[in-house]
Amino acid sequence: MNANTIITRDYVSEDYPQLIKLWKETGIGNPERGDNEKVIRNCLKIGGKLLVMVDTETGILMGSSWMTFDGRRMLLHHFAIKPEYQGKRLGTRLGRECIEFLKKAGYQVKLEVHKENLIAKRLYKKLGFFAFTNYDIFMIRDIQGNAWPENT
Ligand SMILES: CC(C)(COP(=O)(O)OP(=O)(O)OC[C@H]1O[C@@H](n2cnc3c(N)ncnc32)[C@H](O)[C@@H]1OP(=O)(O)O)[C@@H](O)C(=O)NCCC(=O)NCCS
Repeated sequence: MNANTIITRDYVSEDYPQLIKLWKETGIGNPERGDNEKVIRNCLKIGGKLLVMVDTETGILMGSSWMTFDGRRMLLHHFAIKPEYQGKRLGTRLGRECIEFLKKAGYQVKLEVHKENLIAKRLYKKLGFFAFTNYDIFMIRDIQGNAWPENT
């Protein structure tokens, strides 16, 4: 890995196959759950931002960070580094780049992280995030009313 050839840039459609692979490998996304190209395009049209970390020498997509805009805040999600490149400070670098983008854009930022994801929580705290301790997350995943297991 050559740190000098690694860049962070905006997502383009050609990244999609590697992006989905990254999300599946890191257990954070799945096209069947709505993480698909159409949803990404819609999100970008309404002010979202999807950053990818790429090694320009090898063409390998090493990381992603997706920020969804609600008109006031960005929700940061799909934050991941490819397993074989984890622990090399790329997540920290990508996180800092997101914060730089958000500072320039002037948006607040929020995220959700699993209670037991200690590595991600540690990183987010170092980036300046603080945790709300008195809220639970509620969601209706299948608005059509079909059964869907909780916590997936
Ligand atoms: C969370 C994630 C993005 C971190 O990326 P990364 O490139 O591995 O992180 P870094 O190398 O920058 O390390 C960040 C911190 O975590 C620590 N860390 C990284 N991997 C670790 C490991 N396997 N065990 C213990 N600590 C670890 C580092 O020491 C560093 O801490 P420090 O700043 O105090 O030294 C990455 O682990 C990942 O993609 N995980 C799977 C997807 C995920 O859970 N995403 C978050 C969803 S909310």
